[in-house]
Amino acid sequence: MSKKICILNGSPRANGNTKELIKSFTQGAMEAGHEVVCFDLQTMNIHGCLGCCQGGKDQTNPCVQKDDMTQIYPVYEKADIVVLASPMYYWGISGQLKCAFDRLFAVAELNPNYENPKKECILLMAAEGDTEENFVPVRAFYEGLTSHLGWKNLGIVYAGGNMNIGDILKKRNQLQEAEELGKSIV
Ligand SMILES: Cc1cc2nc3c(=O)[nH]c(=O)nc-3n(C[C@H](O)[C@H](O)[C@H](O)COP(=O)(O)O)c2cc1C
Repeated sequence: MSKKICILNGSPRANGNTKELIKSFTQGAMEAGHEVVCFDLQTMNIHGCLGCCQGGKDQTNPCVQKDDMTQIYPVYEKADIVVLASPMYYWGISGQLKCAFDRLFAVAELNPNYENPKKECILLMAAEGDTEENFVPVRAFYEGLTSHLGWKNLGIVYAGGNMNIGDILKKRNQLQEAEELGKSIV
């Protein structure tokens, strides 16, 4: 079955290591017959959540703030799979991705009890550090997030050892892992 995949790219570097992971993942997913939409959050006007808890009144544009999240909401609504793609910034996801993700709370506000729409989920992350220990905080965040939302994790690519733009191109195995993950989606 063809699935709809929504990628939220939190990297500010247009040709950075995260983007390379995204390209390889997308190639695999499209080969497997899936539809992919990628939002490069750095190029978009997305404000932080105001914490007003006044969203969820308009099905199409559930947040009170009318910025570029209005492009993401309809795609997110239809998506079967959400891909969180980010560089590791201070042992977490980037601010760009965190900002956008927080704003998805407005979608949960559409439902009684703030129930989130059920999705499958993937994490693609580039980082300088390449030890298992380096990824512990992000793993804890991602596991906490997906378990709280009731989302099913389909896979994670931790691409360590990449600092500068293009570093990841020297290690074909990480890009191959991302491509295989895309291909594995059923
Ligand atoms: C502000 C900032 C914070 C970073 N924090 C970490 C970190 O905590 N751990 C790590 O391994 N790498 C860290 N890095 C390195 C990036 O994760 C790495 O350069 C990554 O490849 C960037 O991905 P990109 O090319 O998609 O931007 C940091 C880089 C920046 C600019």
